[in-house]
Amino acid sequence: MNPECAALSVRQALAQDQGLEKILVRGWVRARRDASGFSFLEINDGSCLGNLQALVEENSPAGAALPSARNGAAVAITGALLPSPGRGQRWELRAAELSVLGEAEQSAYPLQKKRHSDEFLRGLAHLRPRTNKYGAALRLRSEAAFALHSFFRGQGFHYVHTPILTGLDCEGAGEMFRVQAGDFFDRPCNLTVSGQLEAEALALALGRVYAFGPTFRAENSNTPRHAAEFWMLEPEAAFFDLEDDMRLAEEMLRFTARHVLEHCGPELELFSRHLDEGLPERTRRLLEGPYPRISYAEAVQILTSSRRSFSFPARFGADLQTEHERFLAEEYFQGPVLVYDYPKEIKAFYMRANPDGRTVAAMDMLVPRVGELIGGSRREERLDKLEQRLEELGRAKEDYQWYLDLRRFGSAPHAGFGLGFERLLMLLSGISNIRDVTAFPRVPGSLEF
Ligand code: 4AD
Ligand code: MG
Repeated sequence: MNPECAALSVRQALAQDQGLEKILVRGWVRARRDASGFSFLEINDGSCLGNLQALVEENSPAGAALPSARNGAAVAITGALLPSPGRGQRWELRAAELSVLGEAEQSAYPLQKKRHSDEFLRGLAHLRPRTNKYGAALRLRSEAAFALHSFFRGQGFHYVHTPILTGLDCEGAGEMFRVQAGDFFDRPCNLTVSGQLEAEALALALGRVYAFGPTFRAENSNTPRHAAEFWMLEPEAAFFDLEDDMRLAEEMLRFTARHVLEHCGPELELFSRHLDEGLPERTRRLLEGPYPRISYAEAVQILTSSRRSFSFPARFGADLQTEHERFLAEEYFQGPVLVYDYPKEIKAFYMRANPDGRTVAAMDMLVPRVGELIGGSRREERLDKLEQRLEELGRAKEDYQWYLDLRRFGSAPHAGFGLGFERLLMLLSGISNIRDVTAFPRVPGSLEF
């Protein structure tokens, strides 16, 4: 543990070169050990993984509050920060004053064991952030989001906000949550499955944009990789082709992995110790490059000539299943792989038709453990081709007037992608269930919190 890392107020005092003889630490008691005449309280203030050990003497003014300073209680301690004589920590807080801000009734407080199962803790979404693993996952989440913002800022992208209420089905998969809006709008209203279509309008004005926000899908797939509400990061750039798009995706992932390696050391160490010992090696692989790139046809070729028996055999024209994606990334390439040029039938209407007439300029990034992490494409910027595609799919052109306008007025080549933020966190943490990288997960049959 970083010795300087135990509590925010201590770090601030150390950074500002303040005296350490009277310092206030507020947090929650994570553990308590009683000896004769004094107790050790392990305090965690949520700012980092490490606890700060506080020594409270029974026969001191601070000692009066000791009986209620039990596991889970919120406390405020003022005291001197001294080098600790004990092992395992560099600093120790000698309590001069202790007050219990909020007690935790021991017989009822559910977080008593050192290690609880993931299932048990999912039933305690409101309390599990106080455990090491979930606190770490949420700090990683915060740090990864920050990394993404700084990456895109550095690449000249503007952060835009696309609507959540929408009348369009971007992906065309019919997996939308319907909003009961009565006749508030002049058409049916849904929760968005992707901000892409609006991001395209903004990219064709601001050049490079990215949206980052909640996304909703009513697909009833109860898997460890699907949530009904998840966060998607969607860059969209004018004058980008598919090559540029793939390069952007790759650089983004490398940048983010490097950032969390630098800023989430204790958290990553916890994950690799308790969840996934292959994590450091896998993360290291993310830093290497370039990632292999293969066409969809080559991917199918690799899958069909592998000796692996899949529950759904791969064949040209069919969507890649998670088992296929994981085989490619986990076993065959043992790292991220970009697959491009998918058959048009299995991809969305807006993807740009390739000259072969069969495939579109799509790309997915597949990664170990997760499968599909990113889905993107070059967009069809030619008005006639786009209209023709909508017609083939039996979609009413009238519903897409504004989107078609973008092809009428100053149309330009452009491309973008969507990154599933929770899946990125699964990749970076080794946490294997999307329910455990989201504070309050929304999955079929669960809306308790
Ligand atoms: O591949 P998808 O469906 O792509 C789009 O929606 C495009 N409009 C994005 C774009 O080009 N701007 O979704 C993008 C990513 C997937 O690769 C996956 O990581 C994630 O979003 N994703 C989900 N994550 C969690 N739960 C779900 N139900 C998800 N569905 C997609
Ligand atoms: Mg996809």
